[in-house]
Amino acid sequence: MEAITLLQGKRLLLAVTGSIAAYKSVDLASKLTQAGAQVDVILTAAAQAFITPLTFEAVTGRPAYTALWESAGGGLPTHIAHVGLAEAAALLAVIPATANTLAKLAAGLADDLLTVTALAARCPLLVAPAMDGGMYAHPAVVASVQTLAGRGAYVVAPETGRFASGLSGQGRLPETATLLGHIRLALAQAGPLRGRQIVVTAGGTREAIDPVRFVSNHSSGKQGYALAQAALDAGATVTLISTVGLPVPVGAQFVAVDSAAAMLAAVLEHSARADALIMAAAVADFRPGTVATQKIKKQEDTAGLTLELVRNPDILLQVKAQREQTGWPRRVIGFAAESEQVLAHAQSKLHRKALDLLVANDITAPDAGFAGDTNRVILLAADGGQTPLPLLSKTLVSEAIIDRVAALLAADA
Ligand code: CTP
Repeated sequence: MEAITLLQGKRLLLAVTGSIAAYKSVDLASKLTQAGAQVDVILTAAAQAFITPLTFEAVTGRPAYTALWESAGGGLPTHIAHVGLAEAAALLAVIPATANTLAKLAAGLADDLLTVTALAARCPLLVAPAMDGGMYAHPAVVASVQTLAGRGAYVVAPETGRFASGLSGQGRLPETATLLGHIRLALAQAGPLRGRQIVVTAGGTREAIDPVRFVSNHSSGKQGYALAQAALDAGATVTLISTVGLPVPVGAQFVAVDSAAAMLAAVLEHSARADALIMAAAVADFRPGTVATQKIKKQEDTAGLTLELVRNPDILLQVKAQREQTGWPRRVIGFAAESEQVLAHAQSKLHRKALDLLVANDITAPDAGFAGDTNRVILLAADGGQTPLPLLSKTLVSEAIIDRVAALLAADA
């Protein structure tokens, strides 16, 4: 599990209530811990019918709390457990949240450690309801969830599927990766890009030859996906326009495209009111001049096939034209994949495409570029500033770029 910068040094209060889905919270507590969070766990009495405090203590390396009347151990701002836990937490996440706990939280009851702590807490509250579909649809539960949401709680909608009962419906607790994504979104609400709209493109475009074949490149889309996640972690609203089908970061709006023409249309549409556009996609400069409507067949005597390629539109140049007319998107960030004279070529792209920031990448370097998980880039600013970054994971490269985007947007305000 890769470290998550947003979680470093953050103290999260994970409250587990009495649903069969409580077993999934163990995996979540483990992943959060591995990602760098300090996870304090509270179990209700009903949760302990399914799972023990020891299980959580084993994966978090920290005490798990169950009793309202016991003093807290060390490491909290006060020895009064509910106050100490509430004061220390960056987020109170009730996962899974039963109908009973939701009703108690909505009514403000305070008869166990969780509910008393929830009243003492000033951090954001996240609830992930989990119960049989009939229960989740009951007006009493709907009202509890609405009350909490109306009070500003972050509600993770349960998924539709099969229950332990054998019935199906909406009420299933999402899997760990999805829960983790929601926790990130809840924490990101205070981030430097809150209220900002960011559009990111990712992956190599696919230019059709016939119904079964296309011309493309080696771009994996990993850098673009990491940028989308970093923008979400900074609190932005994110649209990810991509040709590749990696797991979409929780909270991103995903727009699937294939060709450069389709990406151009999607970029112009979605960046029309965006604060920033980050063009990480590897857009094909050429496409087949004609696309065969039927699969191209070889004949006995076919020795070869000549493809005639024509120029694709340059998306960033079209964005430049749109920006000159409308002022949107506010900021534009491009990439330059170069195999020689990296800085010279990158500088000329920065000016030609009127970029605010250009991320230059030497694709011949052994540890940088397309398929890997690391990248070594130089950030070139419109004012001539150059910032070479060391070899970093694509995640950390993305966070450095997003920091710069946040600074550019803050300078506009
Ligand atoms: N780009 C674009 N439209 C294209 C080609 C590229 O918007 N048709 C964008 C890329 O997403 C990237 C930047 O332009 O952000 C630079 O891409 P790159 O392939 O490095 O440069 P090119 O513009 O294709 O220039 P060259 O052929 O000289 O390398």
